[in-house]
Amino acid sequence: MRGAAAIGPGTGTGTAVRVERVSKVFGRGEAAVQALKGVDFEARQGELLMIVGPSGCGKTTLLSVIAGTLEFNDGNVTVFGAGLHGMTRSEVTAFRGRHIGFIFQSFNLVPTLSAVENVSIPLLINGVARREAEARSRAMLEKVGLVGRGGDTPLQLSGGQQQRVAIARALVHEPSLVICDEPTSALDRENGRRVMELMHEVARAPGRCVIVVTHDSRIFRFADRMAEMDDGRVARVHETHETYEAGDH
Ligand SMILES: Nc1ncnc2c1ncn2[C@@H]1O[C@H](COP(=O)(O)OP(=O)(O)O)[C@@H](O)[C@H]1O
Ligand SMILES: [Mg+2]
Repeated sequence: MRGAAAIGPGTGTGTAVRVERVSKVFGRGEAAVQALKGVDFEARQGELLMIVGPSGCGKTTLLSVIAGTLEFNDGNVTVFGAGLHGMTRSEVTAFRGRHIGFIFQSFNLVPTLSAVENVSIPLLINGVARREAEARSRAMLEKVGLVGRGGDTPLQLSGGQQQRVAIARALVHEPSLVICDEPTSALDRENGRRVMELMHEVARAPGRCVIVVTHDSRIFRFADRMAEMDDGRVARVHETHETYEAGDH
């Protein structure tokens, strides 16, 4: 995996993610849907970048491409200096396991595992011993406000609690890049604020970056910059959340 040694925390400021002319088509022939139509944008180290835009405009597709969980048709994606287009599938998987935390819209928790076991997964993948992994997972669950629920399985938890388990799992291995698809969709105001404060703290750490897709106007104030997507493209990037909110939406 070329370039892997030079990336990760501590690399200072600069570009975290560079997306150039990325296109993605689902399906073939008459059923083909072009979800991404030449996306260009950058996320910087040390920032929390929010991506907003109408339903169906390609936000989840773009996040999946950046996370390396979805192959794209054309263009380049570079994450902390490593080009995803130049890697094999197993290199992408290894890269993602070490450097990327992903919070899925649908949480994707393992139903048969407890909250602590779910959160431990990225640590175990990275070779951390089980006892240490579970201690770190419990501490991360406390940070997202889930105290004393570590032994519960997803079905024993509310939607908001499951979402916080998913958030803890995305952060526990301290990935350089955290990617979140609607991370506060199931959370009340207080837990939404707590989670976004945590995301903001993560984004500020040297050599890290957080990208959040959201519809939730309550959390816009946590954005350093906002990228507006429309019909498969990033149409505009706002340097502050105020300039976005001052526009007509
Ligand atoms: N797996 C898929 N197969 C076919 N079409 C898809 C698939 N995933 C997404 N799409 C289509 O791609 C477009 C963008 O979807 P998506 O990225 O989920 O949008 P958003 O997250 O902004 O709501 C939509 O037209 C959607 O129907
Ligand atoms: Mg979506």
